Amino acid sequence: MLRTHNCGELTADDISKQVILCGWVSARRDHGEIIFLDIRDKHGITQIVCDPERNREIHSQAHELRSEFCVRISGTVSRRPEGTVNPKIVTGEVEIEVDGIEVLSESETPPFEIKDRISVNEETRLKYRYLDLRRSPMQKKLEMKSRIYRYISDFLDREGFVNIETPMLTKSTPEGARDYLVPSRVQRGGFYALPQSPQIFKQLLMVAGVEKYFQIVRCFRDEDLRADRQPEFTQLDMEMSFVEQDDILDVCERLFAGVFAEVTGKQVKAPFPRYGYEEVMDKYGSDKPDTRFDLFLSDVSDIAADSDFKVFKSVLDSGGKIMALAAPGYASISRKEIDDLTAFAGEYGAKGLAFFKVEEGGLVSPITKFFPEGTLEKFVLETGASPGDMIFMVADESTVAREAMGALRLKIGRDKDMIDKDRFDFLWVVDFPLFRFNREEGKWVSEHHPFTNFRKEDLEKLENGELDRVRSTSYDLVLNGSEIGSGSIRIHRKDMQQKIFDVLGLSREESEKKFGFLLEAFKYGPPPHGGVAFGMDRIVTLFTGDSSIREVIPFPKTQKGVCPLTEAPSEVSDVQLRELGLRLRKAD
Ligand code: AMO
Ligand code: AMP
Repeated sequence: MLRTHNCGELTADDISKQVILCGWVSARRDHGEIIFLDIRDKHGITQIVCDPERNREIHSQAHELRSEFCVRISGTVSRRPEGTVNPKIVTGEVEIEVDGIEVLSESETPPFEIKDRISVNEETRLKYRYLDLRRSPMQKKLEMKSRIYRYISDFLDREGFVNIETPMLTKSTPEGARDYLVPSRVQRGGFYALPQSPQIFKQLLMVAGVEKYFQIVRCFRDEDLRADRQPEFTQLDMEMSFVEQDDILDVCERLFAGVFAEVTGKQVKAPFPRYGYEEVMDKYGSDKPDTRFDLFLSDVSDIAADSDFKVFKSVLDSGGKIMALAAPGYASISRKEIDDLTAFAGEYGAKGLAFFKVEEGGLVSPITKFFPEGTLEKFVLETGASPGDMIFMVADESTVAREAMGALRLKIGRDKDMIDKDRFDFLWVVDFPLFRFNREEGKWVSEHHPFTNFRKEDLEKLENGELDRVRSTSYDLVLNGSEIGSGSIRIHRKDMQQKIFDVLGLSREESEKKFGFLLEAFKYGPPPHGGVAFGMDRIVTLFTGDSSIREVIPFPKTQKGVCPLTEAPSEVSDVQLRELGLRLRKAD
């Protein structure tokens, strides 16, 4: 080794030892004659003293050192003079009286300081990611991720899971996003797709008799990027044979309770609470509810049915819902603030936001006149409102009414600081609908993916075409309002799988072309199976308390899908295109 110790370990116990340290110059302070250097590596910082009395040549060498020069320092550990001890760091009691400085490499002035807190735009941090990662908080995140992955591998190994790789150059798997395509040179005109997930392969591994599979694996999805979405991200992917839903939830609960304890040192209670989809949508207005604060939605459709308010009436007549929420202390907000909240709900599809101010004497609102005697009190009772609160309501098709109010609930929780940041609420959402009607495409699509099974009791509904009422055997794991994992018990019979493809409007020909190999495999005694995949970047982000998954991915892309460091995606040469048999079209 080039060094005897690292920069974060020397203490008063090491006084008088001869040591060699390697690291970066973090700071240089000239105190009259004496020069102090802070040398930093990933373990910490050690103070170096260069006294001209001790060695004039080294002293003048120290004078030439600049920030981020990579250096090797040899010297003797000594006690810092009285009054200069820094109790905040491990090495704060000592300093090194230097005998030798070797410059391992020089550095230009870095574009930002390498310290814990910086205020630099993200683009610059990503362009110089290697310098950004040199900062201690970033190093800690890399280590945390590594520790979590090791814990997961060890745990799943003990549980009898086998770590198996699946191809990156493959055929498109439907997970609801666009594929990243890779043209084949050898098979001209042919394209591989990068996997949106290893879904089909892990099911094939069950047909192969593997029984318990896992993989920590990169997935690729071309979709609109957000704070919790990257074009490539990492899943913990699992699949098991001969199991039921409870078996899968159980092993995942034990795993994540363990991961949580490993990372935070705190305990989380397993089994995690389980909520039905309809229940969370009605109560929280979200299929990934943040349960860290008590503010609940109420369905006031029955009460509102008594009114002459046109908006409510027409929504109820067309089968919609009216969802309400009592916002604590909001009775005194201004007209402008009401308008802002209305616009906010509008972003989630709400066509308006009705309100009742709750005063000691009763409800106050331009719309109270539409409600008969005795009805208004029912709103107060149903929503649990108190004087000083404001009851907000959205009338719309069920999903819009619930989701818009759910978004408002979260906004109020955040704005009023109602969320306990120290809490970690893991929960499962189960009993999702199997299908969702996609208005843009005008057709039914899978809520999860087309290999998800349905509840046996709902077979009749499926056969009668009551598609909105068929429940699936899928489940999501939610942590603090974020969907961190998703899975299901699969369809394992060819005839059932074909039935689902039929409902989704995939012709025999199309399904044969896209998934023929899966249907073919299902001819050979497929076992009942199910599985789940967890978004590791999201999970680590929740543990670190960051607001974007880009903070925990070593080399992420920007919101526009660009890597500022490598400048990918970039143009390729005409020769490369020709080899692939491709020609670029002008933008339409
Ligand atoms: P799903 O598509 O729900 O399920 O993905 C599983 C989990 O992966 C995370 N995730 C993402 N994280 C970051 N960026 C993204 N673009 C992104 N997309 C998804 C989420 C999500 O819960 N094959 C199925 C799983 C199964 O059925 O076993 C699947 O991929 O946390
Ligand atoms: P209007 O009749 O459009 O003037 O609306 C009267 C009040 O009802 C306003 O406060 C609107 O924001 C509200 N409103 C309109 N449409 C809806 C809706 N779909 N749900 C809830 N409130 C609504």
